[in-house]
Amino acid sequence: MSPVGRQGFGVDIGGSGIKGAVVDLDEGTLVGDRFKVATPQPSTPEAISAVVASVVDHFGWDGPFGATFPGAVTSGVVRTAANVDPGWVGADIEDLFTKVTGQAVIALNDADAAGVAEVTFGAAKGRDGLVVISTLGTGIGTALIHRGVLVPNCELGHLEIDGRDAETKASAAAREREGMSWERWARHLDRYYQTVENLLWPDLFVIGGGVSRKADKFLPLLHLRTPVVAATLRNEAGIVGAALLAAAAAQTEAATGRADTTVDDVGVDDAGVDDVGVDEDPRPG
Ligand code: BGC
Repeated sequence: MSPVGRQGFGVDIGGSGIKGAVVDLDEGTLVGDRFKVATPQPSTPEAISAVVASVVDHFGWDGPFGATFPGAVTSGVVRTAANVDPGWVGADIEDLFTKVTGQAVIALNDADAAGVAEVTFGAAKGRDGLVVISTLGTGIGTALIHRGVLVPNCELGHLEIDGRDAETKASAAAREREGMSWERWARHLDRYYQTVENLLWPDLFVIGGGVSRKADKFLPLLHLRTPVVAATLRNEAGIVGAALLAAAAAQTEAATGRADTTVDDVGVDDAGVDDVGVDEDPRPG
């Protein structure tokens, strides 16, 4: 029998579903099945907190866990809520979830969690330079990771393109809503990702979200100078990334004795990514 790896727990909150699972932190895989509940409508802090408590309860999880949120989260406080109830803005999400579950919680943006998972175990693993992980779902999420360091809360899905918020045309939800062909949607994706690559000059785009399962239908239609690959952890990336960062935060707390660690205090490298610092730059010159 293979030895049991370190385990963590992650909950991924999306506009349509709330999913949780136990995570093998060494392999970046789910231990057993995930449990999914439809996002309550209206998706208020109280309603979502109750679902998160039921997901944690379903697994009998007892320990720190990570939770993603589909908006900007700084120091455990929700700052934006484009696709969930506006009542979230200003809510202390970590506090709310700790109250209903009795567990220590680290909360972070959903795309940031997916990015951490992809760079630790997935499509961006071992890739140099600037990686932009972009999730196409109800909205468009963005994680920027430069040489193992996450720049959190990049809200590039809301870039204004042709006078409109980009995610109103280029998200996976926009394609479904408007019944767009892959070709038509790809033209919106081209416009969006060309804008992003002209602003950031990334070394790699990793495209995630549920629709990345069908990457062969639209990635070949894109005209970008930046290499593009599909995410490999797909819909599990958020759960895995959240669990990784929660475990890293718990470790930091144990080492520092501070009980108020947030995601800002732990690096992607703490979660398992090999970091090469600027002063360790291996390039000549
Ligand atoms: C939100 C982002 C989120 C993305 C994917 C956007 O509308 O503003 O914070 O990462 O949707 O859920």
